[in-house]
Amino acid sequence: MTTIPPTITWLDPPEGPAVRVIDQTRLPGELVMLDCRRIEELCEAIVSLRVRGAPAIGCAAGLGLALAAQLAEAKSGQAMLDALELARTQIAATRPTAVNLFWALDRVMEVARRAAEQGPQEIRQRVLHEAQEIVAEDLRRCQDLGRHGAELLPEEGNVLTHCNAGALACAGYGTALGVIRAAVEVGKRLHVWVDETRPLLQGARLTAWELHAEGIPCTVICDNAAASLMAQGKVDCVVVGADRIAANGDVANKIGTYGVAVLAQAHGIPFYVAAPLSTLDRATPSGAGIRIEQRGQCEITHVAGYLREPITPPRVPAYNPAFDVTPAHLVTAIITERGVLHAPYEEAIRTVWQARD
Ligand code: MRU
Repeated sequence: MTTIPPTITWLDPPEGPAVRVIDQTRLPGELVMLDCRRIEELCEAIVSLRVRGAPAIGCAAGLGLALAAQLAEAKSGQAMLDALELARTQIAATRPTAVNLFWALDRVMEVARRAAEQGPQEIRQRVLHEAQEIVAEDLRRCQDLGRHGAELLPEEGNVLTHCNAGALACAGYGTALGVIRAAVEVGKRLHVWVDETRPLLQGARLTAWELHAEGIPCTVICDNAAASLMAQGKVDCVVVGADRIAANGDVANKIGTYGVAVLAQAHGIPFYVAAPLSTLDRATPSGAGIRIEQRGQCEITHVAGYLREPITPPRVPAYNPAFDVTPAHLVTAIITERGVLHAPYEEAIRTVWQARD
């Protein structure tokens, strides 16, 4: 069995300073680590989905600020804050939808600001500590969330998932796949239908790789096969991750998630969303306020962006939103590290948010 290394880690000198990530664009062909030594490299890694998945890009954003602090030759606290603000702006411009990225940037910047009077070296240390805390917490949160979610899954059966909300999308363990992992760990006998997830094939390339590496039985399907599997009674529940959950429980996740939720409801199948509290966005009242990332047409015109020959005729445009919004009424439950939330979500989200650490 392949051991999956940590998705993202900090490297101290002499190897670093650097943010080390698994280059997910190379999977499943080869497991390659990428060391980002400059903010521009880290931003490129996020934009190109070398590091991807909402919690993982939150971790990358936090460690990115730590990298900026190590690289800055600031002589005063204010000069250090200015350098961090610049890095913050660069990282914030990479991808707009996953709220974890902005959550992590805000959290680390707040720590930097509080240390401003103690000078640049103190800021450096505190920023690095906070960013590493975000990574460590994310792993713990996924494990807790997994335990809560595992109780919802059947003792035996078929789970369908979309995109990759696994260890690769987080500091480790995963959200949707964390729930599946935890259920398998307590002895549930599950098989996973893996939506291939066009256009970038996170399901076929990454989810299948992770599950196979752990010996969890799985089968990859074309996205458009889900409906007929459901109609045949071959799907017992759906578990997906989230990039941002609005205050009313609307869920932004990988394009195609909404379709799966509609199908699940039509067939009376539970549709679960697994996400840490860092994915909740209480400042956005509903899904209508969530900015959906639009990506390049070539991701559609060239399969997975890899095939050199286009699969579409020249000059025919392609439309490529990276995410869609599943309305809260289609969500059976939201699984968090603080327990399982049920509708009405506005109230459940407010309560869990107020009780957080
Ligand atoms: O474009 P991606 O690959 O970053 O999209 C990832 C997803 O949509 C995941 O489902 C989501 O981030 C949750 S990951 C735990």
